[in-house]
Amino acid sequence: MAPTQRVLTGITTTGTPHLGNYVGAIRPAIAASREPGVESFFFLADYHALIKCDDPARIARSRLEIAATWLAAGLDTDRVTFYRQSDVPEIPELNWLLTCVTAKGQMNRAHAYKAAVDANGASAEDPDAGITMGLYCYPILMAADILMFNAHRVPVGRDQVQHIEMARDVAQRFNHLYGQGRELFALPQAEIEESVATLPGLDGRKMSKSYDNTVPLFEGGPKALRDAVARIVTDSRLPGEPKDPDGSHLVTLYDAFATPVQREAFRADLRAGLAWGEAKQQLVQVIEDHVGPMREHYARLMAEPDRIEAILQAGADKARAIATPFLRELRQAVGLRTMVAAPQPVAAKVDKGAELPVVKQYRETDGQFYFKLTTAKGELLLQSQAFAQGRDAGAWVKRLKTEGAAALSLAPVSLADGVDPATVETALAALAAHEAELAARAASKG
Ligand code: TRP
Repeated sequence: MAPTQRVLTGITTTGTPHLGNYVGAIRPAIAASREPGVESFFFLADYHALIKCDDPARIARSRLEIAATWLAAGLDTDRVTFYRQSDVPEIPELNWLLTCVTAKGQMNRAHAYKAAVDANGASAEDPDAGITMGLYCYPILMAADILMFNAHRVPVGRDQVQHIEMARDVAQRFNHLYGQGRELFALPQAEIEESVATLPGLDGRKMSKSYDNTVPLFEGGPKALRDAVARIVTDSRLPGEPKDPDGSHLVTLYDAFATPVQREAFRADLRAGLAWGEAKQQLVQVIEDHVGPMREHYARLMAEPDRIEAILQAGADKARAIATPFLRELRQAVGLRTMVAAPQPVAAKVDKGAELPVVKQYRETDGQFYFKLTTAKGELLLQSQAFAQGRDAGAWVKRLKTEGAAALSLAPVSLADGVDPATVETALAALAAHEAELAARAASKG
């Protein structure tokens, strides 16, 4: 069985979804989440929203609208994990661990930050005018979003590709510093849907809030849809005059919602002189056929925000079932450990030498490397798995010796039959204490 691929993407909650968001992001993401072998994580990036927007009412409204939109568009929350970034406290916690290994110079090179600095330069402002630390560190929070769930694939727009590359870099650095030869984080890959054409807006440029050329998806009902379509810019060919379907963004919009048969017929009608006014009515019709039923669902959801809240809370529980244990492991890795397995120097002194458990590293006839932990008398306590590289086995031995029982839950070892885990923990604690004592002695000599 092929391993499942984790796909993750975030939606910044600053606006109201328009037709371009639906065709370019929401619809393909929902379709992809239905593929077998895919585990999808979709979330509302509401911490990121705070970087771009300081209007609380707008943030609150947008979170609700975007959540309702995804649900109305057919997202199956049993299949996917759908949550709010701000409901998963492990994400900002990981953000800090990553911040501590991220080079400042790399953040200086982030496009969004550089663009803001350049804009200030152009207007003779202080280079950092109006730039918050949130904007500056935006890519690190995004890396935390992605690495928290070990996502393999991250579908995003082209403008976000650099951020995914930065997340990869941070992951690699963290793995190198703290992984002890293990990949703590999977390395994410940006995925740009080449097949999904960007939807043009009313003026033919990419549909975007910043160009004020959008067609609303649900908000405003059929009337808002009709009004927007009426404003689509066309050439000035009169009714009856043949029109070139391939040069028209109205046709591109039509294609996004039509069946192949409808697309052919529409082109033929335009070539035969269909009036632009008529064409716009047909465009409204195909969009409405597709979007109308979803809009009703959307309206029902918007009328019951507490239902949406419950769905998102359940999503957060699902997300945290992964994030909480993983963050515990990461805290261990960087040295933020519980102190219960602390060395017991007194006991170690009494036990000295002959009584100490023994770790043996060896190579089998299969050519693989192994190690095992036995009592002083030679009774087997722990057996390692096979390692292709001797140094990997060595790294684990070193870790078990220095960290003692704290490393046990992570180590690729199995408990010998009939052995009580507490016995193993005590043995490891004694070993670790012995190591600590040796190290302390060496230090006081040096
Ligand atoms: N920055 C992304 C955008 O503006 C949104 C986002 C936040 C995101 N965190 C993410 C996307 C993690 C993918 C993965 O589009």
